[in-house]
Amino acid sequence: MADDGWKLIYDGFVPAEERLREALCTLGNGYFATRGAAEEADADDIHYPGTYLAGGYNRLTTDIAGRTVENEDLVNLPNWLPLRFRPDGGEWLDLCHVEVLEYRQALDLETGLLERHMRVRDPEGRETSVATRRIVHMGQAHIAALEMQLRPENWSGRMEVRSALDGRVVNGGVERYRALSNKHLAPLEASSVGEDGVLLLTETTQSHIRIAQAATTRLFRNGEPVDVERHGIHENDYVGQDLWFAVAERQAVTIEKVVALFTSRDRAISEPRDAALQAVAAAERFPALVASHALVWRTLWDRCDIALVGNDRTQIDLRLHTFHLLQTVSPNTAELDAGVPARGLHGEAYRGHIFWDELFILPFLNFHLPEVTRSLLLYRYRRLPAARRLAREAGHRGAMYPWQSGSSGREESQVLHLNPRSGRWTHDNSRLQRHVGAAIAYNVWRYWQTTGDREFLAYYGAEMLIEIARFWASVATFNEMLGRYEIRGVMGPDEFHDRYPWHEAPGLDNNAYTNLMATWVLRRAIEVLDHIGTERRDELERLIGVDADEVADWDRISRKMRVVFLEDGVIAQFEGYDRLEEFDWEAYRQKYDDIQRLDRILEAEGDTVNRYKVSKQADVLMLFYLFSADELRDLFALLGYRLEPEAIPRNIDYYVRRTSNGSTLSRVVHSWVLARSDRARSWAILDEALESDVADIQGGTTAEGVHLGAMAGTVDLVQRGQIALEFREDALCISPCLPADLQGLSLKLIYRGYWLYLRIGCDDLTVSAPHGWAGPDRIGVRNHFHDFGAGDVLRFRCQTIDGGVRPHPGRVERTRERVE
Ligand code: BGC
Repeated sequence: MADDGWKLIYDGFVPAEERLREALCTLGNGYFATRGAAEEADADDIHYPGTYLAGGYNRLTTDIAGRTVENEDLVNLPNWLPLRFRPDGGEWLDLCHVEVLEYRQALDLETGLLERHMRVRDPEGRETSVATRRIVHMGQAHIAALEMQLRPENWSGRMEVRSALDGRVVNGGVERYRALSNKHLAPLEASSVGEDGVLLLTETTQSHIRIAQAATTRLFRNGEPVDVERHGIHENDYVGQDLWFAVAERQAVTIEKVVALFTSRDRAISEPRDAALQAVAAAERFPALVASHALVWRTLWDRCDIALVGNDRTQIDLRLHTFHLLQTVSPNTAELDAGVPARGLHGEAYRGHIFWDELFILPFLNFHLPEVTRSLLLYRYRRLPAARRLAREAGHRGAMYPWQSGSSGREESQVLHLNPRSGRWTHDNSRLQRHVGAAIAYNVWRYWQTTGDREFLAYYGAEMLIEIARFWASVATFNEMLGRYEIRGVMGPDEFHDRYPWHEAPGLDNNAYTNLMATWVLRRAIEVLDHIGTERRDELERLIGVDADEVADWDRISRKMRVVFLEDGVIAQFEGYDRLEEFDWEAYRQKYDDIQRLDRILEAEGDTVNRYKVSKQADVLMLFYLFSADELRDLFALLGYRLEPEAIPRNIDYYVRRTSNGSTLSRVVHSWVLARSDRARSWAILDEALESDVADIQGGTTAEGVHLGAMAGTVDLVQRGQIALEFREDALCISPCLPADLQGLSLKLIYRGYWLYLRIGCDDLTVSAPHGWAGPDRIGVRNHFHDFGAGDVLRFRCQTIDGGVRPHPGRVERTRERVE
């Protein structure tokens, strides 16, 4: 439920929804995050408290289905939340065993504050009001804090509060992984510190990350500290204090718990135990922490908010998505060696691994927090040696990035996968998605285009591009008969198809998306050598041995890559696609409520999705998502194929109809590619994409972690998609067209170090750069270039065309404003 565009509010306690709410009410700061679990709850059938550290992985082995498998997981760290109460002689609060008279939970996106208000009546008839507030500090990355106000409404007596740090946790958040080993933490120390403090020290069993949490718990009445009777609780992996005090009817007491979290991965510390103790001792009181935390959020929103006029629901969804993105990767991440996990730091699905989803996430960050993109790309750069190793082991040259990446950059994809429908473990071939490397190259290039960060390109980006291009050049084989290069035995983004139904061996040939991305990467590797200067080029020549012959190879391969077509200019998803059967969508829609995961449905029926023309998610259509029509036309032309403009809608229609959207990424792509041709449909699909997590449209997956790619992708859809932002002739070009559902949109983008302000209304579009401009001295608006510099304010009159509001490129007024 929305409230003033900034609050996510839940009324009533609904046990079945609790895990979903926990994921959506996660608080984090890019360094760590904690699910929005109730303070009084342990992990059980209803609740799942979880705290995750960016880059905090550990490996465990399990004997399963006749083999030993090793999995690396993002570790669930000790739960710092526990703060529970009971009236004298009563039971600890458990919402399932009291009468819940009032209950409301609110997440304030503007200030990053999670609140719960409730009034409960225990079996003895004692009514108590409880209000909690919580933050994970965005400015002080190691600090989290919790406040609980208790007010007996109809009783007086003694109250007991237990505050603890709980290291008994395991990774148990995903039902399908329960058969796998899950105890990642070993206890080291659980002790009291001074009058009101406790310390818990644990270590991950294999990666040996040492984790220190220190907490203080204090009681206040009318804002003044109150002395209370305390009893320590010390177990191996659990430490806490029981606080005893008197309470009087209708008089509130406030408990503040402040926590510091450090690990042995942190910089600028001696060791985590000492750092946590010092930080918690120096921490301010809860209200001051809330104020400084909110201030940091304000500055982040100032950079990142996209303000809409006329659509409150879309507005709150967009803000929720931006909020969770910023909680997963924030300026705090820029200091870390961490990638961006597909499911955020919000749950354990996909074990916190990093996939190609960055492709949907980095474009937004490029225009708002480019230093964060840089650090996420450096996560990949540091794993270039591992990617080179993977390529070598597979008999190739260059760098083969893993489909799933974790701590070291080795391949973390599973070899077996449980189909929860059939209970069968099946082979997981998803690692054949070699296109992940192309996504990394694409991200490097778009970062460079947006920021102009030549140092990054020269020292890190170029090397990654070259090594990824080398990989493509080495896997491409020449088909003498056709005179074309081919890439065989891979999987495209559509994970339903992992083999031909007529072949035993996994892998498909000439996946169009992969082949075209490989071509594009080879071209960029050639081009990058022109951007980095002769000195660096010479260095790279000496260091990694790129010479003219190799560049000539790249040039030749990138002009002769094979793309297979069906009829009417429709691109075949892969060679042999035409031999697959059409699928009876209608019959399956009638048979099952939800057919997004047709792979599981068909496997459970003893059939295989490999037999049909059915995609889990956009595959061919990714091309129209990542490239403008002009870029694609040029790419096809380079290969000697013609991509007629009329063929684009035919491709879109063909594949949208054959896609089950079993991945939340798919709708982002579909909405994007339909944005120009079918605005109403595009907006309707965006609406569904916006609901992916809030409404948990995959039926239970959000509880295991949000879908960060779809979250960031939807925000980017409104940002870049609605204004059709692209780079052309080295200039930034926009061609906004507001859908009927919106009356206005304003945002700012950082481009090559300077902010560009865009305000689009029904009557006009304003483009300005009041604080300086280092981009090219022109800007494109609907295919017309206009001179543009710092202080210029370009105001275009808008007109309504095809049901959308567009600026009139010729009707422009130019004024100037002061440049600071
Ligand atoms: C999708 C992949 C994606 C992964 C992680 C899968 O369901 O098919 O494309 O990378 O989820 O989000």
